[in-house]
Amino acid sequence: MKRIGMLTSGGDCQALNAAMRGVVKSIMNAEQDVEIYGFLDGYKGLIYGNFRMLTSHDFSGILTKGGTILGSSRTPFKLMREPDENGLDKVEAMKQNYYKLKLDCLVILGGNGTHKTANLLREEGLNVVTLPKTIDNDLWGTDMTFGFQSAVDIATDAIDCIHTTAASHGRVFIVEVMGHKVGFLTLNAGIAGGADIILIPEIPYDIDKVVEAIDERHKRGSKFTILAVAEGAISKENAKLSKKELKEKMKNYPYPSVSYEVADKIKEKTGYDVRVTVPGHTQRGGTPCPYDRVFASRLGSEAGKLILEGQYGFMVGIKNREIIRVPLEEVAGKLKTVAPDASIVQEAKMLGISFGD
Ligand code: F6P
Repeated sequence: MKRIGMLTSGGDCQALNAAMRGVVKSIMNAEQDVEIYGFLDGYKGLIYGNFRMLTSHDFSGILTKGGTILGSSRTPFKLMREPDENGLDKVEAMKQNYYKLKLDCLVILGGNGTHKTANLLREEGLNVVTLPKTIDNDLWGTDMTFGFQSAVDIATDAIDCIHTTAASHGRVFIVEVMGHKVGFLTLNAGIAGGADIILIPEIPYDIDKVVEAIDERHKRGSKFTILAVAEGAISKENAKLSKKELKEKMKNYPYPSVSYEVADKIKEKTGYDVRVTVPGHTQRGGTPCPYDRVFASRLGSEAGKLILEGQYGFMVGIKNREIIRVPLEEVAGKLKTVAPDASIVQEAKMLGISFGD
């Protein structure tokens, strides 16, 4: 008999349910005697012992369902070693619940922060298998995370819709795409949506270069310009500041987000009519796209295989289209970012896309 604990942690994304379904189906198809303990709302469920027993019925019909049947929450890694408001030692509590339920392993689905805690639990002696989710695609050790492609589709749709209205009105439009630290989503949706300017955190922008690119288009007869701007896009000026200096400067930041600042500066320097659209959390919502359904199911299968083999301490991922196993200690704490000289960036530049650099 296998006793498996499962949780989804961090910001949700598409195909979390598809991935869990994949794990459970692959195990149940090989072994009938399985108990699944679904911890609710991420690590919180494991800390406070909130779980639900799940049967095969719970995993039926969820391949296409967005969100997570277990609920999710953010429990920052840096607070894991700090006692909660009642003095509870969170790590110890997670271990106690694991041992009390006599679990064989934990299946943990999450992004960067989640993986740091998963690795901590591994170091504490628990059996852990993880699956990489996030629309940001910023997990080290895997070419892709599930959720990413679905989010690219949604952000691209947003840019597509803006395209028609931008053309009608001859305006400058900014579509703000999710991603505070990395620009994979903005870069891919920007290229797919035919954005003229793409601003991402990894390539700090110079507002004058942005304005130059807009002016160039106008000179060539294009009446409108579309910018795909990542939530974490940063000016060259700000990129030079230390973390502390930037934090200090941001205290009096008058804009809701960077897109509004870019819009304001463009207006100020050119007099053009500029509008900002923020699709926000729609990018994490809705049905997973077919790619993510297949990908998450494949990852789920491999995670199931690891558990059946009794092999723990791995994240399942993908490299060159093949599903792989990556030791958790290699993944935890590392961020995958867009290299400013990556071929995709060079190719985008060849297409005439400006990065404002
Ligand atoms: O989960 C990743 C992500 O969607 C980022 O792209 C985004 O910056 C952030 O989460 C938003 O977080 P929250 O849902 O907590 O507002």
